[in-house]
Amino acid sequence: ELYSLKDLYSDYFEIGAAVEPDRLSGTVSELLNKHFNSLVAENSMKPGSISPTESAFNISTPNTIAQYADNHDMKLRFHTLLWHAQGADWMLKDASGNWLEATEANKALVETRLKDYITRVVTQYKGVADYYDVVNEVIDEGRPDGMRDSYWYRITGTDFIKWAFEAAHAADPSAKLYINDYNTHSPRKRDILFNLVTSLRDEGVPIDGVGHQTHINISGPSIEQISESIQKFAEAGFDNQVTELDISVYTSNSTNYDPVPEAILLQQGYRFKELFKELVRLDEMGKHADPSTAAYNPEGWISNVTFWGIADDHSWLHRSEDNRFDAPFAFDKKYQAKLAYWGMVEAV
Ligand code: XIL
Repeated sequence: ELYSLKDLYSDYFEIGAAVEPDRLSGTVSELLNKHFNSLVAENSMKPGSISPTESAFNISTPNTIAQYADNHDMKLRFHTLLWHAQGADWMLKDASGNWLEATEANKALVETRLKDYITRVVTQYKGVADYYDVVNEVIDEGRPDGMRDSYWYRITGTDFIKWAFEAAHAADPSAKLYINDYNTHSPRKRDILFNLVTSLRDEGVPIDGVGHQTHINISGPSIEQISESIQKFAEAGFDNQVTELDISVYTSNSTNYDPVPEAILLQQGYRFKELFKELVRLDEMGKHADPSTAAYNPEGWISNVTFWGIADDHSWLHRSEDNRFDAPFAFDKKYQAKLAYWGMVEAV
């Protein structure tokens, strides 16, 4: 009988998984129930899925996932209220389907549409969703001002970020609100994000923390870089969540594996162990920080660590173009515990 991951980590953070609705029954759901106490929808709660057109409000799959979380005593992360991809693009278009020009009138129109949508969604899931990725991937470290050149940004500047957080908070003041992004360990991206969240907070925008997607691989980035980023936000008083963890077995120039060689799975096992040891250590730092500082948090610095899947039979990293199988999780495609699982056991 295996140790339950959620039980092993219960003093530190919740252990979550991203799911499609077909993961909520059958053998894989037994794995989900045993090891995970937090759920996020891999696709079905994205704006483009809920509201592909102005009149659509597709919440039947979201409700199935929310109901499952509730029935199994799991937290619910809501991903996401705004993203440049898989978006509700009608909000940014005119009646003929053309992208709106950046005028004051269009900015006001976009503000109303965004606030109405977020108010409707968050009201629907009030008391049900615990955490929201309010905005996803708004940073682009390759640009001079650090902001992604999306239509949201073109039409509203950075105001859409503030509107999104304010509308979410107004609809459910108890929900915890996050800004979510990838490569948050990159020093430049981390610092752009840090300046953004601290200035939002200074303006009174209700933001609780940072979601670190953490799509990494067996060799990079370094655990130190991941740690430094979490520490920087935590010391300034922000909560941290690892929101989309997967540890790919591929580095930039490797060939495709299936099955994955034992040596690579062993390397992955050590990587899981080192990462989770560091996440536990960071979480503890919040509990033991000087209580007179912003770094102090009796709940720790990290509240939730969510994998972007459950087991290796399903991952967004699987590539159909060249038939590339990936194996980024703690459980293999037959739902057996991997060395990665044992790395997580040894880390705590
Ligand atoms: C991915 C899903 O896993 C895929 O099924 C979908 O085709 C594209 O989106 N960052 C995010 C997630 O914030 O929403 C993405 O999810 C993965 C990258």
